[in-house]
Amino acid sequence: MRTKIVAGNWKMNLTFEEADNLVDELMSELEQITLPRDVKVVLCPPAVYLEMVSDYAGDSYFMVGAQDVSEHEGGAYTGEVSAAMLASCEADYCIVGHSERRTYHGESDQVVAAKASRLLEHGLMPIVCVGEQLSDRDAGQQLAVVQRQVEGSLFHLDSNQIQQVVVAYEPVWAIGTGRTATAAQAQEMHQHIRSLLAAKYGQAVADEVSILYGGSCKPSNAAELFACPDVDGGLIGGASLKAKDFMAIINAIIG
Ligand code: 13P
Repeated sequence: MRTKIVAGNWKMNLTFEEADNLVDELMSELEQITLPRDVKVVLCPPAVYLEMVSDYAGDSYFMVGAQDVSEHEGGAYTGEVSAAMLASCEADYCIVGHSERRTYHGESDQVVAAKASRLLEHGLMPIVCVGEQLSDRDAGQQLAVVQRQVEGSLFHLDSNQIQQVVVAYEPVWAIGTGRTATAAQAQEMHQHIRSLLAAKYGQAVADEVSILYGGSCKPSNAAELFACPDVDGGLIGGASLKAKDFMAIINAIIG
């Protein structure tokens, strides 16, 4: 059975003290519930807080993820953070190919593919983001656009590696806008992504890959989205910064 995941992408928010308080609050809430074995909570703080957050976790209540990684192994790349460094700070996951990186930092599928490879080489699980722009959807091109991203970012991996990958479908028009994909739109795209994986790696392998939805996912719509057969959880932005909202989304996946 594939893993259900609720991951919080804090993006470039919170001071150290605010981040510390948020984890503290989440810990006390998580201590009061029992997560089913197939449900994982992942916190993705800014890289400078990774160690602080992973010190809290000890893997007992939540896992820790970074928000980006260098495509390079190491060396003279000022300001970059390598997969080896993330592994040494006890990160378990790392987001790659977020639309904010694709848009503001010009990341191509080729770069995203290289980043996913670096992570896998160091035992981290990549959360690989794909998603169409509003103009793509208006032109009826959303399935084709996401297909290109899936092929370009993931299809260099072998079938063992792909099972270590989490895919996140984040329609760009839904990110931070308050406008969520409907459950039907999410299910259509998630099914499409799974069918692409099945065509390349076989159905049994595709059935093991968790596919998360991201984009204005919040307590009021999480349960409906998570009820879709191919939606295996969420990658949460704004609502992951408030302990109560994030816990409500975690409770929605537990059902
Ligand atoms: P919001 O939940 O704030 O729309 O952000 C989604 C996202 O980009 C998560 O990676």
